[in-house]
Amino acid sequence: MNKLISLIQRAEYSHSLSKSEIVSLFKDNDCTEELFKAADRVRKKYVGDDVHLRGLIEFSNICKRNCMYCGLRRDNKNIKRYRIQPDEIIRLAEKAVGYGYKTIVMQSGEDDYYTVDKLRYIISNIKKMDVALTLSIGEKTFEEYKAYKEAGADRYLIRIETTDPVLYKKMDPGMSHENRKRCLRDLKTLGYEVGTGCLIGLPEQSFESLADDILFFKDIDADMIGVGPFIPNEDTPLKDETGGDFLTSLKVVAVTRLLMPNINIPATTAMETLNPRGRTITLQSGANVVMPNVTEGVYRKLYALYPGKICTGDTPANCKNCITGKIVTIGRAVSASKGFRVKA
Ligand code: 5AD
Ligand code: SF4
Ligand code: FES
Repeated sequence: MNKLISLIQRAEYSHSLSKSEIVSLFKDNDCTEELFKAADRVRKKYVGDDVHLRGLIEFSNICKRNCMYCGLRRDNKNIKRYRIQPDEIIRLAEKAVGYGYKTIVMQSGEDDYYTVDKLRYIISNIKKMDVALTLSIGEKTFEEYKAYKEAGADRYLIRIETTDPVLYKKMDPGMSHENRKRCLRDLKTLGYEVGTGCLIGLPEQSFESLADDILFFKDIDADMIGVGPFIPNEDTPLKDETGGDFLTSLKVVAVTRLLMPNINIPATTAMETLNPRGRTITLQSGANVVMPNVTEGVYRKLYALYPGKICTGDTPANCKNCITGKIVTIGRAVSASKGFRVKA
């Protein structure tokens, strides 16, 4: 039998692969269907057919960082910046709860306007609504993370972006890879469910490097892994780069599921930017979460990480119906639970 097929079969039951085995799966284009089907079976066995929906509020596009790939980087003078006020964020969360979402995700650039006091106010008010709350607001101190946790935050997303320290230095000037890893450790220590992930297709990123990323996710026992293709943005220094491709990104999702059977894995918006059926295909290749945007009005267009982002012209109500339809069509169900990691 084909060597790769037997490797996929072994991984489906052992949930373990070496770096060179992962690389061989990335290089191959003949056994991809077997890989995606195996990941889909592992997903079904460990986390079931439910898809957890997380309502995403993009509450500020102001960022003090300067990541080379990102449209929100501070040197980008071509976008209009906005901040949504605390009471307005709470109102958006209320509406999201009205759509039936059981998790609210608050995401922003690294914007120091939102002090611990302001965030405490927002978090505690959203937590009155019987939902899980996820923060995705960047690098903070242990004390800040502790304060948000005590106010009620349940989960935290902070992608490592790449585990290659040399590439990280080039992509995230002025930032420290060590500090980012410190953030992940602190969040775990504080009892958050921790989500991380990487960009796929960064300049000079190799398959070996992507394999290291997945082994890192497993090593830190991340509870959620969100990955997606890097999509070059006109308003950034990486505008002329090629960017990530859909197939490689899908392989990263599938291998992550094989190695981390019980975690939550979103089918990310960037996947659907590259392929009109991107999230559906990703849900059938290992993913079990979708994060529909519940930001309203002009702000949706202004949270421009990369071009071609889907749903910027839709309303939150549209997205709710649209994504529910896609989930039901593939024989899956919208989860009625808060969707914490299932620990088996
Ligand atoms: N393409 C794809 N994803 C991007 N992100 C930032 N810029 C881009 C881009 N050009 C991702 C980063 C960040 C997340 C919020 O958005 O991985 O962690
Ligand atoms: Fe800021 Fe995050 Fe964009 Fe980096 S990726 S510039 S930290 S919003
Ligand atoms: Fe937004 Fe489909 S999820 S329009």
